[in-house]
Amino acid sequence: MPQPKTDDFPYKCMFARPSVKEAATDMLIALRKHNTASRIRTLDSEEYAETAHVNMKKINCPGKPRFPEITIVNKPKDYAAFETLSDLFNERARMMCKVKGYSTPHEFFTAHAAELRARAEEAVGSGSGAAHRQIIEERLREEIYLDPRCKECTSHKPQVALSVIDDARTVLDFSAGWGDRLAAALAAGVDLYCGIDPNPAVHEGYSRMVSALQRLAPNTRVAMVQDTAQAALAPPPGEGPVPHPEGGYDLVYTSPPYFDLEVYSGAPAPGSAARAWFEAFLRPALEGAWKRVAPGGRMAININNKRGGRPGYVEWMVDLVDAFPGAQRAALIKYYGLDPADLEGSKRRQKDAQPIWSWRKDA
Ligand SMILES: C[S@@+](CC[C@H](N)C(=O)[O-])C[C@H]1O[C@@H](n2cnc3c(N)ncnc32)[C@H](O)[C@@H]1O
Repeated sequence: MPQPKTDDFPYKCMFARPSVKEAATDMLIALRKHNTASRIRTLDSEEYAETAHVNMKKINCPGKPRFPEITIVNKPKDYAAFETLSDLFNERARMMCKVKGYSTPHEFFTAHAAELRARAEEAVGSGSGAAHRQIIEERLREEIYLDPRCKECTSHKPQVALSVIDDARTVLDFSAGWGDRLAAALAAGVDLYCGIDPNPAVHEGYSRMVSALQRLAPNTRVAMVQDTAQAALAPPPGEGPVPHPEGGYDLVYTSPPYFDLEVYSGAPAPGSAARAWFEAFLRPALEGAWKRVAPGGRMAININNKRGGRPGYVEWMVDLVDAFPGAQRAALIKYYGLDPADLEGSKRRQKDAQPIWSWRKDA
């Protein structure tokens, strides 16, 4: 079930062997076998994985309990093993999405196809036959990713998602994105995963992912809602399009837009000011979601400020959720692009850990 081939972009699903369904199955099985515990670091986490754009002194100010911190590191081999799982189904939608200040990767490819292809052919060298052509296409995809003039919207790491899901049986994801948390929920074999996303371009990919993988998670009920979070979560729990498990959700877990950093098709235009966006989207979404968290359940939100830390909507969010009824700070889970041990001496050394802010509701 490859994505419909509507253009010449070298989508990863075209290299999936022997088929998209089987490649996705292998990735889900690898994800299940993945040893998350071996990737968790608890020592001097701030030094190890700096949350560069958030004012941690303000967040952990006197009078507030500190967020207990853990860091999850990734290894280069994770990429081929399972990190491209959502791309097998929703890469096209991701390539149509813009990072602020850049054209979409799809537009970039269209504008520079000949140049990129020449570079890929040079990198691969001469040869012939179908296998050689495929190597060139795969290299072409890398050339797009590596070109400094192009920037891709990021996905969420499914192995991080799997460890955040942990023992939750019911998961509500109010900005479901490319489907990385859906994949992790299928790997975890949860009872219910409900994803909400207004982007019409991703829903067909969700369906294809579920039909490829559901036999590995036959008891998982998947409910996808095509709407904004603020609209879908506005009715009282149990009413409206979002299913409500008895007692509520064990886990609300999502990665909402980082304000205007990425521009998704189908999403309502955010207010031009961060405060307007926060009031129109993030506040009502979090309020509606918190009402759906079961007593003793958790809410985990992956969001970072933009570079430089201004305007500080993460700090606004932390203040908001801290004041929700029964909310206790549970963890600041940081995930790091790659384990620093694998980056020693590399120019690609990454300092930015991406934060996941997690609260528990009193039982
Ligand atoms: C792709 S995820 C964010 C990814 C994040 N930057 C990361 O690195 O993991 C954001 C998703 O939020 C969705 N979204 C945008 N506006 C929304 C809204 N009002 N309600 C719910 N989801 C929304 C977008 O369609 C998109 O799929």
